[in-house]
Amino acid sequence: IYPSELIIQNKKYPTDSWTNVNGHILSRIGQNLHQQKNHPLYHLTNRLRQHFYQYYDPRKLSPKFSIIDDLRPIVTTEQNFDSICIPADHVSRTKTMNYYINKSTLLRAHTSAHQVDLIRSGLNAFLCIGDVYRRDSIDPTHYPVFHQCEGVQLFNKEELFIENRNVRGDKDYLQIFGSNEHRDATKQEGHTLEAVKLVEASLKKTITDLFKNLFPNAATLNSRWVDATFPFTHPSWEYEIEIDGKWYELLGCGIMEHSVLENSGLSKDHIGWAFGLGLERIAMIMYGIPDIRLFWSNDSGFLSQFAFDDSTRAVRYKPISVYPQCINDLSMWMGKTIIDPSDFHDLVRAIGGDLIEQVVLIDEFYSAKKQRHSQTYRIIYRSMDRTLTKEEINMVHKDIESHCKQQFGVEIR
Ligand code: PHE
Repeated sequence: IYPSELIIQNKKYPTDSWTNVNGHILSRIGQNLHQQKNHPLYHLTNRLRQHFYQYYDPRKLSPKFSIIDDLRPIVTTEQNFDSICIPADHVSRTKTMNYYINKSTLLRAHTSAHQVDLIRSGLNAFLCIGDVYRRDSIDPTHYPVFHQCEGVQLFNKEELFIENRNVRGDKDYLQIFGSNEHRDATKQEGHTLEAVKLVEASLKKTITDLFKNLFPNAATLNSRWVDATFPFTHPSWEYEIEIDGKWYELLGCGIMEHSVLENSGLSKDHIGWAFGLGLERIAMIMYGIPDIRLFWSNDSGFLSQFAFDDSTRAVRYKPISVYPQCINDLSMWMGKTIIDPSDFHDLVRAIGGDLIEQVVLIDEFYSAKKQRHSQTYRIIYRSMDRTLTKEEINMVHKDIESHCKQQFGVEIR
């Protein structure tokens, strides 16, 4: 039972018999994990950015790819389906697969929903990164909200044939479009095979170069292209890599359907490729994250493992305990000397042992009135094998306090 309208991010949407969003899903809108500093998806987004900014357009004197990562996830059925040629009766439109706000508005099911708008706005090479929503099975690798990166690059005749322009000394020898070309497994009607093959080569090189950059051991990984079908590309492929004997699908891609370019307002002079890759899938492999729900965790045991500035840093995720954390702060007026945090860490470890998950200096200041320094540490307790009781933690915490008094001459605040 829904109210007659829903208010989402300060905008009103009428509900109808298609409405099937729920509070849990709506609460994800605006979280933008890929923009949250030090989140694994933020690091991955940075790496995509760094990788694609290497490609330079000498005529524009700027990076070739524009990167758009802040489009709102609420789109029309026109954007999500019609604009990219998904037929009216296609299964991917059903209520069981999507989160509808009403009959004509839904949470985007893929970043492909923005292809046409972005091309229409004048871009001919871009990435579009954002959260996407799908009603899906529940297991360690599926979650109803995840993140995708769409990539698109368009070519006109000069750009596509730049290296082969004069193969016959005849500048019009190579063409993107021909009047006698028909659709078959290798190409769309209208496209010449030489144009399609060059675009395919560009697409596949772009993707394999990206994964060489993301996975340092890419040279030793097996990968393969699998023929696929999408309503908005033809021909189409999926790219898979093999890890420990299992094949993982990382993305879908292909030569853009010409009618998508027509819907974008381009006349008959361009051809292009598009891909859509899932960020969680890649981050799980890159960092060894075992469960997709962890991306939504506010648990500092998870997030602290990604608290670094250099997004290219290679880290392996260390599983955190399934038992709850217990957080206790400790504030102290310093005695004659200011405590070096590493001395404090040693003391805490010595007393708390493996019950200590994390220690952070959260506050430090000098009081002119008291003429004393103050430090506050947050100690996060958690056992790997049981739920700790408050009493037990308090005893350890008191013990740490009294050792601090003895060892550092502090006064507990
Ligand atoms: N939108 C497709 C998906 O979400 C992926 C894709 C993007 C495929 C672009 C081809 C081209 O599954």
